[in-house]
Amino acid sequence: MPLRLDVADDDSVAAAAAEVEHLDVLVNNAGVLYDTWQHPSTADLAVVREALEVNLLGAWRVTEAMLPRMGRGGRIVNVSSGAGSLARMGAGTPAYGVSKAALNAFTLKLATELRDTGILVNAVCPGWVATDMGGAGGRPVEEGAASVLWAVDLPDDGPTGGFFRDGRRLEW
Ligand SMILES: NC(=O)c1ccc[n+]([C@@H]2O[C@H](COP(=O)([O-])OP(=O)(O)OC[C@H]3O[C@@H](n4cnc5c(N)ncnc54)[C@H](OP(=O)(O)O)[C@@H]3O)[C@@H](O)[C@H]2O)c1
Repeated sequence: MPLRLDVADDDSVAAAAAEVEHLDVLVNNAGVLYDTWQHPSTADLAVVREALEVNLLGAWRVTEAMLPRMGRGGRIVNVSSGAGSLARMGAGTPAYGVSKAALNAFTLKLATELRDTGILVNAVCPGWVATDMGGAGGRPVEEGAASVLWAVDLPDDGPTGGFFRDGRRLEW
C-alpha cells in the first residue's frame, strides 16, 4: 500500500509509520539541493539547513520511526552520494556534500549499534543518474536503482556499515 510522507515533517513521518505493521526494507532515498551554484565561504545557510533537514535528518527521522517495525533480516539503505565522500571532497555543492557526509556518518553509527540485530545498514551511491536532480547525461534510472537494490538484496552474512556503488566499496 503506498503511503505519502514528508521526511522533513515529524507528524507526517509518525502518521506514515503508524500505518506500517512490519517492514523488511527501508530505503532512505529522498534527497534535495544539489547546490552547484554555491561556494562554502558564502553559502546561504538556509539552503544548508534545508539540505540537512531532508538529506540527513529526513533519513534519521524515518529510520527512528520505522526501526521498531523491523526485525532480523531487515535492511536499511541510505541513498548517499560520492559528493559526500570525505576522501574525495571538493569545494562544489557544499550544502549537499556536507549533508551526504553526515548521512554517511549516521549510517556508520547506526550500523555499529545494530551489528548484533541481523539488520544490515549501508550507504549507497547510485552514480550519476539522469533524474530531475542528475539531469541529462547521467546513466539510466534502472542502473542507478540497481546500485541501490544491491544493498537491499544482501545475504544475511553480507556487509554492514559500508559505503558502496554498484556493489563496490567507496572510500568514506
Ligand atoms: N541523480 C543523481 O545523479 C544522484 C547522484 C548521487 C546521489 N543521488 C541521490 O539519489 C537520491 C534520489 O535522487 P534523484 O536523482 O532521484 O533526485 P530527484 O529526481 O530530485 O528526486 C528526489 C526525490 O526525493 C523526494 N523528496 C524530496 N524531498 C522530500 C521530502 N521532504 N519528503 C519525501 N520525499 C522527498 C522527491 O519526492 P517528490 O517528487 O514527491 O518531491 C523525489 O522523489 C537522492 O538521495 C540523491 O541525493 C542522486
